[in-house]
Amino acid sequence: MSELQSKLPYVGTTVFTVMSKMAQDHKAINLSQGFPNFNVAEKLLDNYHKVIDGNYHQYKPMPGDARLLQEVAQKIEKHYGRSINPEKELLITAGATQAIFTAIQAIIHKGDEAIVLDPSYDCYAPSVELAGGQPIHVNLNADFTVDWDKVEDQISKNTKLLVINNPHNPGGRVLSKQDIDSLEQIMRRHPHVFLLSDEVYEFIHFEEPHISVNTREVLHDRSIIVSSFGKTFHVTGWKIGYMVAPEAIMAEIKKVHQYVVFCVNSTAQETLSNYLPQVDLGDLSTFYQQKRDFFRERMKGSRFELLPCEGSYFQVARYNEISDLGDFDFAKEMTQKHGVAVIPISGFNKDKHDDHLIRFCFAKDEDTIIKATELLCKI
Ligand SMILES: Cc1ncc(COP(=O)(O)O)c(C=O)c1O
Repeated sequence: MSELQSKLPYVGTTVFTVMSKMAQDHKAINLSQGFPNFNVAEKLLDNYHKVIDGNYHQYKPMPGDARLLQEVAQKIEKHYGRSINPEKELLITAGATQAIFTAIQAIIHKGDEAIVLDPSYDCYAPSVELAGGQPIHVNLNADFTVDWDKVEDQISKNTKLLVINNPHNPGGRVLSKQDIDSLEQIMRRHPHVFLLSDEVYEFIHFEEPHISVNTREVLHDRSIIVSSFGKTFHVTGWKIGYMVAPEAIMAEIKKVHQYVVFCVNSTAQETLSNYLPQVDLGDLSTFYQQKRDFFRERMKGSRFELLPCEGSYFQVARYNEISDLGDFDFAKEMTQKHGVAVIPISGFNKDKHDDHLIRFCFAKDEDTIIKATELLCKI
């Protein structure tokens, strides 16, 4: 039998899977993987039950349910003042992950380069490689802010795509107006580059506003913007999201999408098209800000140094006062010895540099946060 040559030889099991499994094996409180453990809104479940009992179990149209597309377009208009054509510029996807994979397959050709800012969410670089492209990794500053000069220095004639994530996982940063201005200037200076903006935490930001690429014409005319209903409505297991792109780009993305999934889960689409007009998405930031503040307040007695958390539902902490171990070993020790599973940040860095940082997910119910922080304060 001939030997199969791996297309992703360096990829093993993801750190999220490893840490969640370790949490389970050691009965540790799981603050590692980014999913909520509290109840989904009752109104959403009521809608879901009605849909399940109804006749919505067959394929939806390839780009998405017409009503859902309309609702998302209205949401974009309401929150960002951008008017899009839902038929031509919007696509419902099987989560943000499929949106990102599909967009990258449509855009990246063999030999193209895509700039990825590390620490980065783990699906960007492999998607670029599977398309035959080369990810160019640029490290964020130690405090997870962006050095835009460093980013621009990496742009070459081969650069096809720049990937950003705002609010940022794992860093918890939200790009400022100055950041977005710098990004806009870079994009103006390099008209051959497209932008992929991962905005799955678009409604989870705290003191400062989240400036979506949807609000900047110079940017959105060359951008693919991705979001996730899983993150917005605490239903990560539904795997449903969407992306926005100008018509010509979207036409190419749809060509790929139809051969990846063709269309997305019908009952989730039907439910969300009913539910979207019933909710105020502005409430989500307040909801998570309370969780962030509760977590941070209860961590005051601990020896962890908490970094700023401006958005997303992740809190990064430095543990230099506690241990000299590398972050993977420290995360293992946390899970096995101290009963709290976390994610080591170096796993998000291509060069694996280790700043002795770990990530907590605070999208958890009050009881879980109380129990976890009690344990964390004893370390
Ligand atoms: C930054 C970022 N992008 C994309 C995703 C994937 O979202 P989805 O579950 O909708 O595929 C996640 C999930 O954790 C994420 O944190």
